[in-house]
Amino acid sequence: MGELRSSQWYGGGDRNAYIHRAWMRRGVPDDAFDGRPQVAIANTASDLTPCNSHLTEVARSVRDGVFEAGGLPLELPVVSLGETQLRPTAMLWRNMAAMATEEMLRANPIDSVVLLGGCDKTIPALLMAAASVDLPAVVVPGGPMLTGTFRGVPLGCGTDVWRLSEEVRAGTLSREEFVRSESAMIRSRGHCNTMGTASTMALVAEALGMVVPGLAGTPAPDSRLLTGAHDTGRLAVELIGAGRRPSTVLTKASFHNAIVALAAIGGSTNAVVHLLAIAGRLGVDLTLDDVDRIGSRVPVLVDLLPAGRFLMDDLHRAGGLRAVLREVRDLLDPTALTVTGKPLVEGLDDAEIWDPEVIRPRSAPLVAEGGIAVLRGNLAPGGALVKPAAASPHLLRHRGPAVVFDSIEDFHARIDDPDLDVTADSVLVLRGCGPRGYPGMPEVSNMPLPKKLLAQGVRDMVRVCDGRMSGTAYGTVVLHVAPEAAAGGPLALVRTGDVVSLDIEARRIDVEVPDDELARREPAAAAVAAYARPARGWQRLYVDHVLQADTGADLDFLLGSSGSDVSRESH
Ligand code: FES
Ligand code: MG
Repeated sequence: MGELRSSQWYGGGDRNAYIHRAWMRRGVPDDAFDGRPQVAIANTASDLTPCNSHLTEVARSVRDGVFEAGGLPLELPVVSLGETQLRPTAMLWRNMAAMATEEMLRANPIDSVVLLGGCDKTIPALLMAAASVDLPAVVVPGGPMLTGTFRGVPLGCGTDVWRLSEEVRAGTLSREEFVRSESAMIRSRGHCNTMGTASTMALVAEALGMVVPGLAGTPAPDSRLLTGAHDTGRLAVELIGAGRRPSTVLTKASFHNAIVALAAIGGSTNAVVHLLAIAGRLGVDLTLDDVDRIGSRVPVLVDLLPAGRFLMDDLHRAGGLRAVLREVRDLLDPTALTVTGKPLVEGLDDAEIWDPEVIRPRSAPLVAEGGIAVLRGNLAPGGALVKPAAASPHLLRHRGPAVVFDSIEDFHARIDDPDLDVTADSVLVLRGCGPRGYPGMPEVSNMPLPKKLLAQGVRDMVRVCDGRMSGTAYGTVVLHVAPEAAAGGPLALVRTGDVVSLDIEARRIDVEVPDDELARREPAAAAVAAYARPARGWQRLYVDHVLQADTGADLDFLLGSSGSDVSRESH
């Protein structure tokens, strides 16, 4: 191991080295700063991020591994984002969490970092931070919770909340029963157990090569998570000597593998915006078109809610991500390396499917072509996403009159109005929900259906929105429309009654209004009035600098990597 980065703080006998060392000597051995690797444990544990609150226990196992390998572990609490609590949406602070973590990693005397995340935005933010600093880094995903059951039936986090609340609206479930199911939903520590964003990003992080192979998806209460955390602590020390950094691991080839994995697991659309943002931090040329080209024809093999039946605990018992990757091995890029220094594909032959109901063999996929499709058209010149596996077959190609809502408040005020002119063929259009307009691009695109249509048995409609949707949601939802209405996108020009046409096979989303007429229209005044106009603080900085969903919704000045160079002394 050559000269360590941390020796720029601790090396030598001058006054500044004295200051850096002296305050850190709080019971650690005398040789702790004699050239020993300093390993940060970036920890997103927080009581207000319940999915991550157990990470403090995980951090203890990482510490043991770091000590054992001759390093000094240093716990670094970082900004944590709790998906269920934060208003207006956790996504508003993904970039802030990434920026704050990046800055603390760079400014502190550390040589490598173990990243502890779980809940939706936490792993993406940590990966964005690590990519920007480019110090040796490895992720320990906090893991999903165990499956809870209500009246003998398993409950999927998120997905079943949407399902049960629709049943209440349709009048087939009482409000009392609905509330009673609450205590059964969250059975243990850990993140959501459906194939939502947290599960997706943990598995995608492993497919990217940033997790010890086989660890992602291990349930939070499982002892093997602590074993994996211990091993990862050791690895974090090894990474320094090997000079293995995020830029070594996160190549175009590893993004290729992540997109294949995302499709095969039937993962969340949110992963697209996160992958684009991580790539943007490294200068890797990844586009929306890559997502469609690499992923859209990949079969979905994992039968998990919301697209299928099972939950994360089942996936782990059935063989986990490695067994899934084995089935799509021919589609993976064999050159991509993991944090271990070995190719992702190495050892895949040893992975086995233990339950072919949960992980389907390639010969009998859940959906033959199931990845995320990228649509374009005069409604989304920059692109929009749709998840064909979550869409209803009869709506894959559809034309219908738009029913337009200028804000989420407008939507809630009118959607259940018995006089609303809406049928099962209508296309629900919601605008003002993009990164800039809301702000933060909330998960509102999977709009609840009108009560009167639910009562008629309608369970899906085409919906179009510039926001995101929860990875736990389902339906024929065209989302991440770019540019968003608030950034001058044509979504702002659509009027109720215009015919919207969707053709997923042809990758089109259009409004059937002639170009010259569209060009003459002004953005709807009510929509413009509803756009966010924050006066100060993070929200102001965010709205002024956020990029659109088609490039990852990062801030414009956070693109590119600034590395880990140590700048001036503090005294
Ligand atoms: Fe944290 Fe779902 S709320 S992962
Ligand atoms: Mg979410």
